[in-house]
Amino acid sequence: MTPDTTSDVTPAETPGAGDTLLSIRDLVVEFPTGAGTVRAVDHVSLELGYGERLGIVGESGSGKSVLARTAMGLTRAGTARISGQVVIAGHSVLDLKERRRRALWGREVAMVFQDPLSALHPITPIGEQIAEAVRRDPEVTRRQAAARAVELLETVGIPQAARRVHSRAHELSGGMRQRVAIAMAVACRPKLLFADEPTTALDVTVQARILDLFDELCASFGIGLVMVSHDLGVVGRHTDQVAVMYAGRIAERGPVGAVFARPSMHYTSSLMAAIPRHRATEQSLPRPIPGQPPNLLNPPPGCRFGPRCGHASARCRDEQPPLLALGDVPGHEYACWHPGKASR
Ligand SMILES: Nc1ncnc2c1ncn2[C@@H]1O[C@H](COP(=O)(O)OP(=O)(O)OP(=O)(O)O)[C@@H](O)[C@H]1O
Ligand code: SF4
Ligand SMILES: [Mg+2]
Repeated sequence: MTPDTTSDVTPAETPGAGDTLLSIRDLVVEFPTGAGTVRAVDHVSLELGYGERLGIVGESGSGKSVLARTAMGLTRAGTARISGQVVIAGHSVLDLKERRRRALWGREVAMVFQDPLSALHPITPIGEQIAEAVRRDPEVTRRQAAARAVELLETVGIPQAARRVHSRAHELSGGMRQRVAIAMAVACRPKLLFADEPTTALDVTVQARILDLFDELCASFGIGLVMVSHDLGVVGRHTDQVAVMYAGRIAERGPVGAVFARPSMHYTSSLMAAIPRHRATEQSLPRPIPGQPPNLLNPPPGCRFGPRCGHASARCRDEQPPLLALGDVPGHEYACWHPGKASR
């Protein structure tokens, strides 16, 4: 499919199974600051098919949010230098003018943020806000949008939806607010949904229910999902593919089961070893990763994980490892000169 840089939201062709929904090619995002240039995303390439779910994991500051926001077209060119290509459902996002890019939001791609209050107006009743989101589709009347708002609240599991449409954001619990934000995001049945730490601010039981809701909505509406999370357990349970980010780069990626069963770049295995387990034995006690992620104003040469890696060699300090295919698992790639034992 040729990326469309002109039309508003009509994709060039109707996609079939196996077609690419999201294609990120060689994306670089840099922020010029008074202290120097922060390269938050460093030559990242990723692909996701229609209806598939991708998890992006990594420590704080690894570039997960900048990647997701830039792919969605939310990073302002005035604050950042952006190069590379992002194509969503046939639309070349970074080449579109602001108005055309905005026309994609809601109908082709939407985002759920960590803090639902940032997505909700404090005074406008939630039903009106959802109806407004529904009306991004110009063919929907005001009356239809109001009815659809009630249906959407029911879909996301809000009880007594017909009454709740009159509530304001501050009258709802955190979990309910996130359900409303999700209802707004899926109001126009986007093909792709970005969710940036959507449950981090919620307690554990509410988290589990919201994550189940993502699963249900993606399956029933055929939505592709990019879930940003620092929680490997969440990504393991709720996505099909995973991309591990370190200091702006992809350290490892592939099918979730394969990557977690055979982590090959030592940052991935270190992240996994840092997770507390329910039934910990002495050998499986969480092992925090030593040191800190690098300062992106002045990252180390070669492999950026080198200063924290127990397997680093002189080559690691001099040469940046490329992403290499693991071979027997299609799509499993890692960036490491001395991969984990299981991979050799
Ligand atoms: N507008 C900006 N100007 C300068 N630097 C920025 C800007 N936005 C992000 N950064 C930097 O880019 C890097 C990546 O930030 P990002 O928010 O993507 O991290 P993250 O992986 O989402 O972390 P977290 O898990 O804490 O949300 C960080 O070093 C951050 O300080
Ligand atoms: S390339 Fe070297 S420093 Fe980087 S993870 Fe692999 S062994 Fe460690
Ligand atoms: Mg973030």
